[in-house]
Amino acid sequence: MAAEEESSKTMEMEESPMLLLTPYKMGKFDLSHRIVLAPLTRMRSYNFTAQPHAILYYSQRTTKGGFLIGEASAVSETAIGGPNIPGIWTREHVEAWKPVVHGVHQKGGIFFCQLWHAGRASDYCFQPNGHPPISSTDKPIKSKFHIDGTTPAAFPPPRRLLTEEIPQIVEDYRIAARNAIEAGFDGVEIHGANGYLIDQFLKDKVNDRTDTYGGSLENRCRFLFEVVKAVADEIGAYRVGIRLSPFADYNDCADSNPEALGLYVVESLNKFGILYCHVIEPRMITQFEAQPTGHSLLPMRKAFKGTFIVAGGYTRDNGNEVIASGGADLVALGRWFLANPDLPRRYELNAALNKYDRSTFYTFDPVVGYTDYPFLDGSK
Ligand SMILES: Cc1cc2nc3c(=O)[nH]c(=O)nc-3n(C[C@H](O)[C@H](O)[C@H](O)COP(=O)(O)O)c2cc1C
Repeated sequence: MAAEEESSKTMEMEESPMLLLTPYKMGKFDLSHRIVLAPLTRMRSYNFTAQPHAILYYSQRTTKGGFLIGEASAVSETAIGGPNIPGIWTREHVEAWKPVVHGVHQKGGIFFCQLWHAGRASDYCFQPNGHPPISSTDKPIKSKFHIDGTTPAAFPPPRRLLTEEIPQIVEDYRIAARNAIEAGFDGVEIHGANGYLIDQFLKDKVNDRTDTYGGSLENRCRFLFEVVKAVADEIGAYRVGIRLSPFADYNDCADSNPEALGLYVVESLNKFGILYCHVIEPRMITQFEAQPTGHSLLPMRKAFKGTFIVAGGYTRDNGNEVIASGGADLVALGRWFLANPDLPRRYELNAALNKYDRSTFYTFDPVVGYTDYPFLDGSK
């Protein structure tokens, strides 16, 4: 009897739901599981244009009803923050993305384009006519490393945007969103995280403006909300998401009160009715290094009315846990999904994972470290 009880207990444990693999309705999108491909810059878009090898890369990571967020894509010429990142501001960019998006759709995936402006996290060589990058400030990033924390960097002093120049930058996001939809993407994610342009406005340790875009919390958030409004007006709020990282200080971009900032932003976002909010866990003290902190995303999660996505340091176990505890609706995975194109299947089977190779995260090869991570059955 005891043995029987024991074995039925084991069965129960084995059959307990893998919450990451349960369906979820995100607005009008029917997701078949809750594992999201996090946005991952791969630096394989030569001439700032998506390349044919991206078709294979993204379709490898597509499942029917799976949700994918594309790599950060520059909204304008001044938005570029590194080599070989894709753009979404010209006709050529739109045409180049089309077959990539088509590849994802053919396998039944849902694909959003991440709209990005690097702001001061750039260099003269990426800017039109070698001009300084633009920002909310004229203070440079002091960090001697890029966002990965290991690649040496020397960021130049940016040029502080004039108040009257800001509407044009907002317009760039609007046009980029329209382009993304034209390329076939199902929606866009506005990149408001990780110390890039929007974050440079949001956070008080960077934003030192004295106009209506600086000073109070309300003023510092103005640029973000103008971008959200412009994009939502253009393509519909039902297909607009946002990424935020109030607790992070990547790219030297920190705030003195991240709890208040995060809460204010999500509460204000509710009035736009956007689809989702995607937030980096406070434990990610560098982009790739998790350490326990006393901070939590729960207040933001509770305040936001749409879908809540979390990212940063997630695995099969803590991913299931965060869903079970109501901490999130969806979990975005970066490095593990990069290295395991069939990650949902591996989680389903509790199979071993390919290790990721950090040395090829940002190299330019169209195959190595990109499309050559094997599937479970050994195929590529
Ligand atoms: C190679 C690489 C490129 C990344 N590029 C982006 C990006 O383009 N946009 C973005 O918002 N985050 C980017 N990130 C951050 C990831 O989306 C994610 O937040 C981070 O890797 C932490 O999640 P993980 O622990 O699941 O890897 C990148 C991360 C990696 C490893």
